[in-house]
Amino acid sequence: MTRFFAPGRINLIGEHTDYNDGFVLPVALVQGCTATVEDAASGWAVTSAQTSDEVVVERGGLAGRDGVAEWATYVLGALWLLHDDGVDVPPLRIAVDSDVPTGAGLSSSAALVCSVVSALDAHLGLDLGPAGLLALSRRVENDAVGAPTGGMDQLVSLRGEAGHALFCDMRDLTSQAVPFDPAASGLALLVVDTRAPHRLVDGEYAARRSGCEEAAKRLGVPALRDVTADGLDDALAELNDDELRRYTRHVVTEDDRVLAVVDLLRAGRLDEIGPLLTASHVSMRDDFRITVPEVDLAVDALHEAGAIGARMTGGGFGGCVIGLVPVDELDAAQDAVRRAFADAGFGEPSLFTATAEAGARRL
Ligand code: GLA
Repeated sequence: MTRFFAPGRINLIGEHTDYNDGFVLPVALVQGCTATVEDAASGWAVTSAQTSDEVVVERGGLAGRDGVAEWATYVLGALWLLHDDGVDVPPLRIAVDSDVPTGAGLSSSAALVCSVVSALDAHLGLDLGPAGLLALSRRVENDAVGAPTGGMDQLVSLRGEAGHALFCDMRDLTSQAVPFDPAASGLALLVVDTRAPHRLVDGEYAARRSGCEEAAKRLGVPALRDVTADGLDDALAELNDDELRRYTRHVVTEDDRVLAVVDLLRAGRLDEIGPLLTASHVSMRDDFRITVPEVDLAVDALHEAGAIGARMTGGGFGGCVIGLVPVDELDAAQDAVRRAFADAGFGEPSLFTATAEAGARRL
């Protein structure tokens, strides 16, 4: 029997930059998924503590995906892909158990996939190594599930470090741990799960992604990462489409903000990153246009309650907001957010504080 845990994440800053070959700065959470892999007599059986289902399939490749419940494709995807890669995967039973809220933009899917891939790697002695674990985890989500996500979530779920944010270059997939300990500066990282229903998420995410690719193509660069902050005005002048201009401005300024936050954290100036977080939110709201009223309200309420910075985190169209709040004002800030939601007639948000935790590990 082999058991691994892999965490969900919040992204401190660097939104929709990963699939533009840019920079991200996520943090692994305490919440995560545990995957237990055991040998079985025949076939592949998958159970989840969060559903009452057991899904059993014949051993085989990705062609066997049709008709399988979506949650199980996140688990079976790795087995199908390994089979198609020529690995003789034996009969197995895999059980998963997660406490990452689903649909909240906290990467419950990366936690699930990375715990399964890490456990399989160890159980089968595959020795995939850091690059191989990341590549297989990404293929499960992109190729087996069919979600066109950009790789940040899997990277931090696998490689996160306690007490640190993970500065990732999504072009060469290298990562560096950067100190991130808000408590040492008298601050707390407050997470507001707005519980706003995701609206058109998949289509909107894919539309942003193809819009960015189109902008890069028109600008004659491999990816928007290659447009520098200095070259932004020229690039914007070259694009004669308002939507592509807005997408480009978001991605280029967001990459720049990630680098600025990393510099501040490395210099021990965490208490100065707030305005950059807030600028990121404004850019997502006005240029990338991926926020919803619940998310904007949570950001405004946090600011009014004394947060030094706040922004939506994750893919957008709902999900979570993060705020850096002075510890002394934490209770008041939570009350202020709950009151603002009640006054607006929104459903009750769920609030918790987050710390930076380690990535995937054997239990
Ligand atoms: C989702 C995707 C990530 C990333 C973010 C936006 O979480 O899974 O790859 O693109 O959205 O930053």
